[in-house]
Amino acid sequence: MKTMLYLGVVLAGALSATPAAAQKFDGLAKTPQLGWNSWNKFGCNVSEQMIRETADAMVSSGMQAAGYQYVNIDDCWHGDRDERGFITANQERFPYGMKALADYVHSKGLKLGIYSDAGWKTCGGRPGSRGHEYQDALTYAQWGIDYLKYDWCETNGLKAEGAYLTMREALRKAGRPVLFSLCEWGDNQPWTWAKDVGHSWRTTGDIHPCFDCIEDHGTWKSWGVTYILDKQDGLRKFAGPDHWNDMDMLEVGNGMSESEDRAHFSIWAMMNSPLIAGNDLRNMSKQTIAILTNKSVIALNQDPLGVQAYRQSGADGVEYWVKPLAEGDWAVMVLNRNKTARAITVDWKTFTLQDDLSGTVAAPGVTRFELRNLWNGQFSGNTLKVLQATVPGHDVLVLRLSRKPRFT
Ligand code: GLA
Repeated sequence: MKTMLYLGVVLAGALSATPAAAQKFDGLAKTPQLGWNSWNKFGCNVSEQMIRETADAMVSSGMQAAGYQYVNIDDCWHGDRDERGFITANQERFPYGMKALADYVHSKGLKLGIYSDAGWKTCGGRPGSRGHEYQDALTYAQWGIDYLKYDWCETNGLKAEGAYLTMREALRKAGRPVLFSLCEWGDNQPWTWAKDVGHSWRTTGDIHPCFDCIEDHGTWKSWGVTYILDKQDGLRKFAGPDHWNDMDMLEVGNGMSESEDRAHFSIWAMMNSPLIAGNDLRNMSKQTIAILTNKSVIALNQDPLGVQAYRQSGADGVEYWVKPLAEGDWAVMVLNRNKTARAITVDWKTFTLQDDLSGTVAAPGVTRFELRNLWNGQFSGNTLKVLQATVPGHDVLVLRLSRKPRFT
C-alpha cells in the first residue's frame, strides 16, 4: 500500500512535470543558420513560383555548396483561416499549396521556412498566430516546414517571453523539428530569456540597405549596417551554439557598393549572426555571388567554437574586431567606417588577442601565426613582421591567423 502510494506520487509528479520539461528542438543551429528570406527584396510580393526559382538559384549559384540551406518565405503568404481556424496559404500566390512547395524545396536538398507573428496580425496585416499557436504549428508540420520566423506586431497586452514559449511548446507538440527564429527586435531583451526558447533572436529593428544611415518611417526607423553593429554592444556574452544574436537579414546585392556589401557580410560573419541573404538570388552580379559564397569568411561564422567577435580597439573610424576560433586560430577584421581609404600598420607585438569570454589568449608578436587575407585569398606574411595595408573607405580587411597555413 505504501509502495502504491509512493508510486502514485512519483507518477503524478512526472505527469505534472511534463509541460516544464518540454523544450526547443536542440541542435538545429549549432552554428548560425544560413539561408535566404524574401522580405528585404520582395516585401509582400511572394509567390510559389518565385520561391521555387529561388531554391533553384540557391543551388545553381553555388550558395548551397557554400552552406546555405533555408529558403524562407516571410510575411504575406497567408490566405484566410478556414471555418475551424486553420490557416491556409493564399491560393492565387500558392496555387499548388505549401506541402507541394516544401516537397519541391526538399527535393533540392534544401529546407523551407515560413513566417508568422505572436500577435493578432502580422506586421503586413495578415492573420497572426495569437490563439491559434497549436493549430498553426500542426499545420506547418503537416506542410513539412523546417523553420519559423516569429514576429512581434499587434501584440498589445502580451508578454514576450510567454508568447514565444507558447509557440515553442506548440512546435514541440507538433513533433517536426523546426528552427525557431525569434523576431521581437530586442524590445524585451530576449537575450536574457530566449536561450532555451529559440535558436536565434533579433537584437534590433529592421535593417535598411545602407552603410551608415537611419531611415525614418515616422512611427519607426530602420537601420544601416553600422548602426546595427553598434546596437550589439554588450550582447556577445549571451550568444553561443544553438542560441544566436540575429542582426537581421542581409542586404548584400540590394544596392550598397561592393565595398559596403563586403564589410556588411564580414561584420555579420564575425558577429555570428545568422547569414540569411535578402536579395534576388535569380539575378545576382558576379560580385554579389562572390561575396555571398566566400567560404573562408563563412567559415568564421560557422566556426565550431561559436564565440562572437569583440571590438579590440578603434580610432579615427578604423576599428579592430577579434574573433577566437577553434584549434587556436583567430580572425581579425579591420573595419574602415570612413568614406575614404586609411593606411594601417599593425605591430603584432603590441596587438593583444585576449578573449575573456572563452578564456583564450595568444601573443602573435611572439608566437608566429600565418596571415591569410580572406577577401583576396592571399597569404600576407606572418605575425612576426609588422603588417602594413590600406583599407578602402566603407570596407574591411579580414585576416585569419593560423599556426599552420590554411587554405580554407
Ligand atoms: C517586421 C520584421 C521584418 C519583416 C516584416 C514583415 O518588420 O522585423 O523582418 O518580417 O515585419 O512584415
